[in-house]
Amino acid sequence: MSDTVLPALLQSYLDTLVPERPPELRAMEARAAAEGFPIIGPACGQVCYLVARMVRARRVFELGSGFGYSTAWFARALQETHADGGEVHHTVWDPALSDQARRHLAALGLDARVHFHVGEAVAALAGQPGGFDLVFSDIDKEGYPDSLPVIERQLRPGGVLIVDNMLWGNRVLDPRASDPATEAIRRFTRSIADSRTWSGSILPIRDGLLLALRT
Ligand SMILES: C[S@@+](CC[C@H](N)C(=O)[O-])C[C@H]1O[C@@H](n2cnc3c(N)ncnc32)[C@H](O)[C@@H]1O
Repeated sequence: MSDTVLPALLQSYLDTLVPERPPELRAMEARAAAEGFPIIGPACGQVCYLVARMVRARRVFELGSGFGYSTAWFARALQETHADGGEVHHTVWDPALSDQARRHLAALGLDARVHFHVGEAVAALAGQPGGFDLVFSDIDKEGYPDSLPVIERQLRPGGVLIVDNMLWGNRVLDPRASDPATEAIRRFTRSIADSRTWSGSILPIRDGLLLALRT
């Protein structure tokens, strides 16, 4: 589920401010809208792209990548920051989505920088050499709390964590909501807020995007 917590008019205003992008990226947005597939959308994609550029991220690991829309924003940032390379890791447990992501990223001319992993995303991150500059997470929300120690280990000090769906259609604010996904997001949010390892803030765009610095 990925509601937008902003009024629709405000969210679409923010989306219209995102600079023009390649037709392939537009086609991915149209596909997501047609199929109801939850992607981060243009305004959050632009934030991901900007943060990756601002910190000059060279190694990016993405947990829960779907058909590669969010991956494309990170790969675009890498392309513009590091003429000689950079890497972004795409992870999803569905091989068909991984294949589709390969095709989309190839059509965008960005696939050379992307490493594709099919399988559970947190396990894939745990299996990589650490020192990532940026980690982005959009996995099943019940998995958020257990992912944190792995992210903490694999992100370099001074690295950035971006996490989607932190407001979860505002259910995190509703004291009557006690389903496992909502509870997991609350636990994860508390862990970040209470930890001296993290300094973070939730941007209330789309469904809430956490930006956190690993101190
Ligand atoms: C919300 S969608 C990803 C959207 C993508 N971040 C984007 O904005 O384009 C999450 C995808 O990751 C998969 N997924 C969820 N939890 C996962 C996990 N723990 N390991 C691997 N894949 C996972 C889901 O099946 C789905 O395809």
